[in-house]
Amino acid sequence: MSTTATLTSAPAAPRRMTVPAFRARKRAEPLVMLTAYTARMAELLDPHCDALLVGDSLAQTLYGLPSTVPVTLDMMIAHGAAVVRGARQALVVVDMPFGSYEASPEQAFHSAARILKETGASAVKLEGSQAMAPAIACLTARGIPVMAHIGLTPQAVNLLGGYGARGRGQAEYARIAADARAVADAGAFAVVIEGVVEPLALAVTEAIACPTIGIGASAGCDGQVLVVDDMLGMFDRTARFVKRYDSLAERIQAAARDYAADVRSRRFPQAEHLYG
Ligand code: KIV
Repeated sequence: MSTTATLTSAPAAPRRMTVPAFRARKRAEPLVMLTAYTARMAELLDPHCDALLVGDSLAQTLYGLPSTVPVTLDMMIAHGAAVVRGARQALVVVDMPFGSYEASPEQAFHSAARILKETGASAVKLEGSQAMAPAIACLTARGIPVMAHIGLTPQAVNLLGGYGARGRGQAEYARIAADARAVADAGAFAVVIEGVVEPLALAVTEAIACPTIGIGASAGCDGQVLVVDDMLGMFDRTARFVKRYDSLAERIQAAARDYAADVRSRRFPQAEHLYG
């Protein structure tokens, strides 16, 4: 059989979401994003999502760390590459971990270039106040698409003192609105806005030209993101803004309990599980 015949008879692969197509969804059909950290989970989520975020929330969801601060570039690259292997059509965005981009635009470029080269992802995300605008401009000008993240920025937990909603006071409201304008003007193709009072999320969505992706923000954002483990019900405690679509923790415990009972009573394995 000729190679050409094999290729033309194969089903066409779905086209992967691009950064310009994602950006063009401003004020159109809401964008769907979930976090993913492994190849299999990416494969399962991919048909339903416009973007998969390899979030540094893997600190808590996979590694049992107390915050995202200890996450390293090597961790993000390993999980980013796994997600790219599992995703066929969603845009894959990889979080830049704390300490990999804040020192200078040059540091941000070297870290982001490693992420794109070693994972095959299409974009990076960084937690960006106005101070990060030069880094975002530098990356964008050099061909690296940046999704910015404003409002409640978990990498700044030591400065913020916790994970409470932001933008309640006038000064903080104005600062976050200015952050949004600065990162959008610097070239961010989308802005994640996390844990802010709803009027602020709506004002930012109205003010900037690129899509806003809300998490604990507003249904009026241009899209939504959730941490997949939260929405699947893997943890007992979640933030107010999480909607649980399953109770996976309970179902995993029940399955493990049934398996343990089968092993202890010798109900497993049975004939159909054995080699003749
Ligand atoms: O790391 C992450 O999962 C995130 C989302 C909460 C947006 O940044």
